[in-house]
Amino acid sequence: MSGGRNGPLLLAVESSCDETSIALVEGGRRIHANVVASQVAMHAAAGGIVPEVAARAHLRWIVPVLEEAWSEAALEWSDVDGVAVTYGPGLAGSLLVGINFAKALAYVRGKPLIGVNHLEGHVYAAWLSASESAADRDGSAHEEPVFPLVALVVSGGHTFLAEMRDHLTYRLLGQTVDDAAGEAFDKVGRLLGLGYPGGPEIMRAAAGATRRDIVFPRAWMGTSYDFSFSGLKTAARRIVDAARADEGLPADDPKARLSRETIAELAYGFQESVVDVLVTKTIRAAEETSARSIVLGGGVAANRVLRERLVGEAQARGLPCIVPPPALCTDNGAMIGAAGAWRLAAGDRAGLDLDARPSLPLATR
Ligand SMILES: Nc1ncnc2c1ncn2[C@@H]1O[C@H](COP(=O)(O)OP(=O)(O)OP(=O)(O)O)[C@@H](O)[C@H]1O
Ligand SMILES: [Mg+2]
Repeated sequence: MSGGRNGPLLLAVESSCDETSIALVEGGRRIHANVVASQVAMHAAAGGIVPEVAARAHLRWIVPVLEEAWSEAALEWSDVDGVAVTYGPGLAGSLLVGINFAKALAYVRGKPLIGVNHLEGHVYAAWLSASESAADRDGSAHEEPVFPLVALVVSGGHTFLAEMRDHLTYRLLGQTVDDAAGEAFDKVGRLLGLGYPGGPEIMRAAAGATRRDIVFPRAWMGTSYDFSFSGLKTAARRIVDAARADEGLPADDPKARLSRETIAELAYGFQESVVDVLVTKTIRAAEETSARSIVLGGGVAANRVLRERLVGEAQARGLPCIVPPPALCTDNGAMIGAAGAWRLAAGDRAGLDLDARPSLPLATR
């Protein structure tokens, strides 16, 4: 990588969904600032994201977020080598706010503009120096991902396994054929009467489980690396209905909630099913492609059980598994600055005609 310091300094903008974030990242690794304004509390009342509301909130917050990033970083425009921005996938209205803001900054300041795929950002969070690997916990130096590697991205809208034999190159091994893992967490969270988003709520509830008897189905999809979570969601509905009948709750009154013990047991069984499938397929993919490391990313990677299980299984096979801290798994600008640095080094530049790509894919088979 070229530029001053340890590689170029990027100002990175992320607004693809319901987080407005701006980061200043050096050399794709070192975070100088990473400010995230989350709209989660705002969307919780609606039980999900309302796109129009999300876009307006990005507009409201993007300038204060930029100001906060500058005050965290003690840097100035003359230090910046480029402006990176997420241009897809995501909600069109939300993406456009970040794209237009980044374009204006790049134009006014005379800096190169770099368009970044949001999913590539989730992968490259593993290169940020705050990320952990099994070796860190043993007290040795931070390990970076080594190629070839297998990356598992599990987020609110995506679930896929890809092989990377070098930077910025992806071969799709498998993906969800229906719901994303995060979507399944959110939907089952709602079935259990938990708050939005369901992922963190299910994790918390499951940690308190004392009975662990209910086993949820696993969709193995034969020997393929594809995933399916819609059957699990249907099974969850059936299991929840049966549990409600057992506790004598009316089927049509969402205010009548299951007992705390039952919610914990069901949350535990559901989480085990998702984690089991994700970990088993990822380890098998790593073995079959002779990967030298594993990278985990996306909002669901904030799940403690998933992180620990995958790192443990990888470690047992002598494979380093690099997992960003939870705040770098959910949407943030730093991961866009990390991916953007490699894109800049590869000569990628976007023009002022950069447009939102709501369905932008990352990898092809
Ligand atoms: N601790 C957790 N356990 C399980 N799931 C979690 C946890 N924390 C967050 N999630 C889930 O992560 C998802 C949000 O992840 P992320 O912010 O990456 O998604 P997104 O940006 O909306 O989607 P995408 O990245 O696919 O565009 C939500 O579905 C949320 O429930
Ligand atoms: Mg995301």
